[in-house]
Amino acid sequence: MCNNCASRTMAPRWWLPILCLAGSVLHGRAQLDSRGFINIDCGLQGEESYVDDETKLVYASDAGFTDTGTPYNISAENFRPWRSRNVRSLRSFPDGARNCYTLRSLVSGLKYLFRATFLYGNYDGLNKPPASFDLYIGVNFWTVVNMSWWGSDQDNKAEVEAIIVVPYDLVQVCLVNTGGGTPFISGLELRPLKMSLYPQATAELGLFMRSRRNFAAINETIIRFPDDPYDRLWYPRSDATMWTERSTTERVDGFDSGSFEAPVAVLQTAITPLNASGSINFGWDTEPQPNNPSPGYLAVFYFAELQVLDGNASRQFYINLNDELWHNRAVKPEYLSRINLYNEFPSPRQNHYDISIKATANSTLPPIINAYEVFSVITTTNVGTESHYASAAMAIKAKYKVHKNWMGDPCFPKTMTWDSLNCSYATASPPRITSICRSR
Ligand SMILES: *[C@@H]1O[C@H](CO)[C@@H](O)[C@H](O)[C@H]1NC(C)=O
Ligand SMILES: *[C@@H]1O[C@H](CO)[C@@H](O)[C@H](O)[C@H]1NC(C)=O
Ligand SMILES: *[C@@H]1O[C@H](CO)[C@@H](O)[C@H](O)[C@H]1NC(C)=O
Ligand SMILES: *[C@@H]1O[C@H](CO)[C@@H](O)[C@H](O)[C@H]1NC(C)=O
Ligand SMILES: *[C@@H]1O[C@H](CO)[C@@H](O)[C@H](O)[C@H]1NC(C)=O
Ligand SMILES: *[C@@H]1O[C@H](CO)[C@@H](O)[C@H](O)[C@H]1NC(C)=O
Ligand SMILES: *[C@@H]1O[C@H](CO)[C@@H](O)[C@H](O)[C@H]1NC(C)=O
Repeated sequence: MCNNCASRTMAPRWWLPILCLAGSVLHGRAQLDSRGFINIDCGLQGEESYVDDETKLVYASDAGFTDTGTPYNISAENFRPWRSRNVRSLRSFPDGARNCYTLRSLVSGLKYLFRATFLYGNYDGLNKPPASFDLYIGVNFWTVVNMSWWGSDQDNKAEVEAIIVVPYDLVQVCLVNTGGGTPFISGLELRPLKMSLYPQATAELGLFMRSRRNFAAINETIIRFPDDPYDRLWYPRSDATMWTERSTTERVDGFDSGSFEAPVAVLQTAITPLNASGSINFGWDTEPQPNNPSPGYLAVFYFAELQVLDGNASRQFYINLNDELWHNRAVKPEYLSRINLYNEFPSPRQNHYDISIKATANSTLPPIINAYEVFSVITTTNVGTESHYASAAMAIKAKYKVHKNWMGDPCFPKTMTWDSLNCSYATASPPRITSICRSR
């Protein structure tokens, strides 16, 4: 609360410098590269930036994105030369309930992919990764980061991704300490997406990635930038004991004006059943979160015919979800041309999702599938402080003494409102700062 406001009516005098500052402080150094990507290697020290071996993208240190926390390197015994450089260092946040990275120069109303990476690597020498902490995009809950989901082995890397329509040109990614150990982060990446992609992601709903798989991946490699201009991570899913793996070297049409696009390399490989009369089966378990105990899922399937079908041969199939027909039209992929099947609204909630792809009665060939993605839904209806006011408050913070809890959104949630700030909360509009006063 604001201690000495009553005696001093500072508010009117303070507003002027606040509003003038907003313009100058925020147009500081550019954070985006020429593609609109942001690549942050958290805790990087000693050098400002480097070119990543695999993607050839430039990764920069987190200086200028956050003003709290302590940089660390993972311990020497956890160093693995084959791992991306991004996870060698990290930033840890022992102080404060909420600590944030501020991403600027976004375009309000556009769609972005956010990815955060975590690798504990015994950076603190305690051999005890945090049990869990929360991650927010702006004022909306993104996910719990529970290191044990990625194995109890402290060496395991966690990667979380979300597709979000951003409300303002400035977005904060915040780590919230929920009593489960010190939050930390190794990498943070932002990629702009075409608005037409992933139509299920709207101003009210974001997509939280559960899995993204490329069947029969050549050499079991992850496909990403530059093969994928959006730099999504297409994880391999290969198993020659379960499926017949198929591939082509012909170009498969993967990018167009549609709602879903996939790299050519992803669409060039596919699986069919081992038995000509068999079906393709795979699935996933529900991954409940404390604030979302039974999430619904959105799935996107990618199909392309990789064989020239001669004469009367035909390949047509149905998709079943938990033994019920998922789409009532048979799928008939054309040679080297991508088609997608997806659900517009989250699936009915269940504990397990079994997908079974079966040929139609008149099909002469077994079914085929090239790739899939599964998302759960994040509601993005919490509204942060109105952007002019938020920018002004950040400018004040940059210019003057930083109060200990001046982190994240100034007014939201109410329990984390910045010290020495008063906010108004009208029902139909974003919170506004009504006054700022000096506390000493
Ligand atoms: C801010 O709110 C506190 C508590 O409600 C009040 O005492 C104070 O006068 C307010 N400050 C300003 C500048 O309005
Ligand atoms: C991490 O290692 C690099 C390279 O050895 C070094 O320059 C940097 O200072 C280290 N960072 C910390 C926080 O110790
Ligand atoms: C983390 O996940 C594990 C395994 O699902 C679970 O047992 C544990 O309770 C979770 N921890 C927290 C703090 O949510
Ligand atoms: C896969 O690995 C083999 C053997 O290492 C190599 O010759 C081939 O070029 C690789 N293929 C691709 C597409 O990377
Ligand atoms: C393939 O079909 C044969 C004969 O119908 C059957 O014995 C075998 O178990 C099937 N294999 C698989 C993997 O389904
Ligand atoms: C296709 O089917 C028709 C009618 O059953 C048959 O006459 C024809 O020979 C078939 N063609 C081929 C290439 O199998
Ligand atoms: C084969 O069956 C599917 C659905 O069962 C139907 O849509 C399609 O028209 C049929 N194709 C032929 C050539 O009869």
